[in-house]
Amino acid sequence: MASDRASEAPAPLSREDLDPATIARFKDAAARAAAELIQDGMRVGLGTGSTVAHLLSALGERAGELTRARFVATSPATAAVARELGLTVEELDEVGELDIGIDGADQVDPAGWLVKGGGGAHTREKIVAASARRFVVIVSAEKEVARLGPPVPVEVLRFGVQRTLSALGDTRLRDVGASPDGNLIADYAGPVTDARALADRLSATPGVVEHGLFPPEMVSEIIVAGADGVRRRAGGKPPS
Ligand code: 5RP
Repeated sequence: MASDRASEAPAPLSREDLDPATIARFKDAAARAAAELIQDGMRVGLGTGSTVAHLLSALGERAGELTRARFVATSPATAAVARELGLTVEELDEVGELDIGIDGADQVDPAGWLVKGGGGAHTREKIVAASARRFVVIVSAEKEVARLGPPVPVEVLRFGVQRTLSALGDTRLRDVGASPDGNLIADYAGPVTDARALADRLSATPGVVEHGLFPPEMVSEIIVAGADGVRRRAGGKPPS
């Protein structure tokens, strides 16, 4: 098992401080620590992205002992890889409440706010996170930031999309295909001075399906891996 440290968060790292191989190693360490939380028979939400790819590998190595575990994927890509690794993937509505959800993040601030949606999967990710009794976030240390900043991903309806973007302000469509639910992915590039106020404004804008700001009360635990090992931060969601 990776070593756990209960120390305070070190000074934030920047992506420029780290080479891709080091970041991949950190992502793998965080993912493997989270994989240890999974036992046979659990109902498990799986996020999307490169950190979750390490989680899938770790779970795939144990597919033979997780035959009764039921997994719910937040994207077609995650579902395909999980199935290929021998994990049982079902629809969220077939499984219902989840024991645990595990997912990556693009940014984590000191209060535990997340920015997610770098892979454009934040709408399904938020639904799955909200369906999980315990939601665990896995990140490499450079994802910890002193203050959240843009871009904040936003999924928007196609209908009236230009009206929605202009109501949001400072928001551009991302050059990616439609989401699995047929919507468009955009990025809000304005300031993030007050995450809760921005989250409320984005949610209240007609045409917005979901945004990538996840509040601390949605998060049970954040597993951060860096040069000093694996560190666990409590989130704002009480144990249930
Ligand atoms: C996808 C997400 C990812 O969790 C987030 O973008 C982090 O990705 P990665 O693990 O590749 O750094 O929210 O929509």
